Amino acid sequence: MITARSTPNIALIKYWGNRHDEFRLCANDNVAMTLDGPYTDVSVELAETLSVTSANKEMTERNIARFAKTLELIKSYLATLPIPNPNPIPRSLSITINSHIPPSIGLASSAAVFAALAKAISGLTDADLSDEQISVMARLGSGSAARSIFGGFGAIRNEENNFIDGSKGWQVADEHHWNLHDIIIVPSTEEKKVGSTEGHASAWTSPDFEQRVKEIGDRRQQECIDAILSKDFEKLQNIAEEDAMDMHHCMQTQNPPLNYLSDETYRIIEEVKDLRSSEHLPVFYTLDAGPTVHLFCTDEARERISAYAHEQVGCTIFEAKTGEGTKII
Ligand code: DP6
Repeated sequence: MITARSTPNIALIKYWGNRHDEFRLCANDNVAMTLDGPYTDVSVELAETLSVTSANKEMTERNIARFAKTLELIKSYLATLPIPNPNPIPRSLSITINSHIPPSIGLASSAAVFAALAKAISGLTDADLSDEQISVMARLGSGSAARSIFGGFGAIRNEENNFIDGSKGWQVADEHHWNLHDIIIVPSTEEKKVGSTEGHASAWTSPDFEQRVKEIGDRRQQECIDAILSKDFEKLQNIAEEDAMDMHHCMQTQNPPLNYLSDETYRIIEEVKDLRSSEHLPVFYTLDAGPTVHLFCTDEARERISAYAHEQVGCTIFEAKTGEGTKII
């Protein structure tokens, strides 16, 4: 049995929409920070038939079908690699998930689960697979999972083809480069109605989606990478907030429209902007497919932002910082 451990990552340039739905080839390049917790462990063992068990979550038929599909895609990807045994999983796998990530709070538990699954499977191959190859395997289960393979700041780069490995993960900078905090304010813990997988599939119906993809390709992704490499907080703030709001604009204008943000989300955003200018604090917000607000800040602002978060009545608060990538334990 091989076990791998992974944590969520939070995008600074968001992955939204696909070029190829089955292979989860991203419509645009994207980049994220990997968090230091909470974590998920995934264990794999060769088996005659697929079984997926989770210590903390009921596995629906739909969940299991997603693992079955991911495993089929990973097997076909491995078969394309020049490794001694391109068929390391002759039949199937017994998969055991032990997640410490609370479900549906706006922390991408699927990213950590599929990153850990890919890493654990790499341990079955007797080959020294690169992180890039493991990121492709992770992406076949969940697009954003490709980034959690890497510590620090992980990104996804598109190639000009629709092959199964046409979007690849890479590391912009490791976890020692820049310590940032993510103070997470969860206004609602309700299960979200439409998940990302369904949402990605209709991204192109937004009249502004094509322009979004172009902007990221022409400028935003590179500006974000430059801001990370030069540790330019203000530049990162401007680009990350611009991109998060642009993704939500596209979500809200796609068909059917997706409104993930709540009144609480908008209130917190406005208050954080006021706090930033009145107290000169290095803090910015970003948002994923839910009302949860991620407040990124430097060491210097952490205490103040954490105090602000804890003042929010009825909200759940989590705190994380820049973390390591996925590893075999
Ligand atoms: C809004 O990776 O969750 O969080 O491939 O369907 O699992 P699936 O999608 P997922 O999409 C992430 C969407 C996002 C933005 C991001 O993390 O980049």
